[in-house]
Amino acid sequence: MNRRQFLGTASAAAALPASANPVDKPALLGGTPLKLTGARQWPVFDQTEEKALLGVLKSGHWYRGSGQMVRKFEEQYAALTGAKHCLAVANGTSALLASISALGIDAGDEVILPPYTFVATLNVILEKHALPIFVDSDRATFQMDAAKLNAAITDRTKLILPVHMGGAPVDLDSILATAKKRNVPVIEDACQAHLGEWRNRKVGTWGIAGCFSFQASKNLNSGEGGAVLFNDASFHEATRAFHSNQTNSQSLNLRLTEFQAGLLMAQMTRIEAQSKTREQNAAYLTKLLSEVKGIAPAKLYPGCTRNAWHLYMFRYDKQHFAGMPREKFLKALAAEGVPASGGYNPLNKQPLIARIFATRGFRRLFTDAELKRWAERNHCPENDKLCEEAVWLTQPMLLGPRTDMEVIATAIGKIQRHAASL
Ligand SMILES: Cc1ncc(COP(=O)(O)O)c(C=O)c1O
Repeated sequence: MNRRQFLGTASAAAALPASANPVDKPALLGGTPLKLTGARQWPVFDQTEEKALLGVLKSGHWYRGSGQMVRKFEEQYAALTGAKHCLAVANGTSALLASISALGIDAGDEVILPPYTFVATLNVILEKHALPIFVDSDRATFQMDAAKLNAAITDRTKLILPVHMGGAPVDLDSILATAKKRNVPVIEDACQAHLGEWRNRKVGTWGIAGCFSFQASKNLNSGEGGAVLFNDASFHEATRAFHSNQTNSQSLNLRLTEFQAGLLMAQMTRIEAQSKTREQNAAYLTKLLSEVKGIAPAKLYPGCTRNAWHLYMFRYDKQHFAGMPREKFLKALAAEGVPASGGYNPLNKQPLIARIFATRGFRRLFTDAELKRWAERNHCPENDKLCEEAVWLTQPMLLGPRTDMEVIATAIGKIQRHAASL
């Protein structure tokens, strides 16, 4: 079906009363569900992975100290991303923890992050007994609003930790310019952004470090796993030292196993092709959704030359759906066979933060007045709205055939036409 035929079918269906057209009737009202034809299976694997895992098993070299797989993976991931150095670690959280520790982030420092991210970005800051300073979101893009960064920097700010949310790059030009002007280092949380690019250069290679996750949902997957990219040899060395217990400097054991490295190299044989499929499908879906009032796909900044499409994110405006709450919209979509999620809650408002601020360590470090000032600064109104409007589709949905994008758009159109009765 071409686009014109598809839209024609959709509008022809709209002309019929719901009762006369079971295909048009929403599944939530007893109509026939639509079906994505793609298997949406994740992870994808075959004998390549079997061979890699069995190879490590039979070698008896299961840890990086005796085997070669982790080292080889580091070389391959550095080559894939164009980074000078790569350090493999146990997971994305370890990538963040090791790099901010190597940078010397310490108790009482301030670290800047977005409020629209996975809780791990916050957890590593709190683990250091540092203060998380949230910079509001740009609702149009779902990313940290770079225009609000400068005002959040104080003489206690020791790090800017932006996140390439959903796999799409943040506005790196503006963030790096502000960071340079204020003399604050940047570490990129690229945990969702494998192969993402800003001005034709991979994300994760712009800051002093770039952190990646290979957790099971990610576009590059070894169940758990992570990596840090560097262009600076001494910062690479410092992070490497932190990730493998030392007697002469502060450190932990955050090492990746040889099995995971074997899996990652097998998965990397498909990453480029999978990424291209996601890009093509996402572009087509955006085109189809541009016809639907009340659905606003996340915009990309002009410097984005490649989106990693870990998530397909859009904003849902209930005004164009007869006032139907987002939760109902998600339910109706799921009934059509299109699973979607409402995404994150505002991270800057999580009760977790107050609980951690009440611990002995934080009480020793910060006075009541200081924590009160933190609370006064902690306002992200745009992000609060974003968290109410967001809808996510996950990356395996973009790996199906092109017709699956038509199914997603048809499901949304169908729900919109019947919104008043849903
Ligand atoms: C933005 C972001 N940061 C950090 C992490 C932490 O990665 P991991 O789960 O591998 O520890 C994740 C993923 O889970 C993430 O999405």
